[in-house]
Amino acid sequence: MDNRPIGVFDSGLGGLTAVRSLRQILPEENLVYFGDTARVPYGGRARETILKYARQDVRFLRSFDLKAILIACGTVSTTSLETLQTENDLPIVGVVEPTCRRAVAVTKNKKVGMIATLASVRSSAYETTIHRLSPETEVFSRPCPLFVPLTENGRIHRGDVVIETVAREYLEPLKVTGVDTLILGCTHYPLLTDIIGDVCGPDVTLVSAGEESAFELKRLLKANGLRADEHQRGEVEFYVSERPEDFEQIASLFLQENMHHSARRIDIDQY
Ligand code: DGL
Repeated sequence: MDNRPIGVFDSGLGGLTAVRSLRQILPEENLVYFGDTARVPYGGRARETILKYARQDVRFLRSFDLKAILIACGTVSTTSLETLQTENDLPIVGVVEPTCRRAVAVTKNKKVGMIATLASVRSSAYETTIHRLSPETEVFSRPCPLFVPLTENGRIHRGDVVIETVAREYLEPLKVTGVDTLILGCTHYPLLTDIIGDVCGPDVTLVSAGEESAFELKRLLKANGLRADEHQRGEVEFYVSERPEDFEQIASLFLQENMHHSARRIDIDQY
């Protein structure tokens, strides 16, 4: 048994969708969340910049005595996972591999769509992983950069003409390819499940990155004897690099529950 916390980080708020999954799948685990709200978004930046930021995020998290780290951020997972794993002596899980495994298991016609940030699409990490797992599966990728700011502004509901128009523009070309599975390769997209599902239709299965990586983490903790005491309810601490008030205001949307904890601000440049 190991009650040390799991570190979770993201470029900002989006990783709270992964926290939500972790709270459901691993309710006994203690979590320390860092959202780099001062420097979000990462998704349009160069790989070197993303890696530099990610290293600082990990250094901050490692100021706690952690047993594992979950990279909730799609953009960091697609560009920096291997480097971070090599540089750190604790288990680090990203979102790509578990999500691809699920997508490969789900697709019947071997046509998988993938939507994410520009940096994630540019990295080809999802294609490479899917082709390794299932060489015959075709992958159709598309960046959806406007989804992040729209989601952060609460534009996630059916009937909102702005998000519905943007979703149609991004997703209709993917629909034409005949994909039967769509990877939501970015932290924010699970909040758009209704909107994306409406455009893609009931024949397309949506696979959410945060949820799959929470299951992966559960397997990894179990295999290494690192699970926390199952009788306890884990605590979550939140840290951000910008105004905590702004984070707290919108965090409930991502957690889909009232935010009971306050966030603390840290200076990420010190790490
Ligand atoms: N967290 C990022 C991701 O999952 C989205 C926001 C950003 O661009 O930083 O890719």
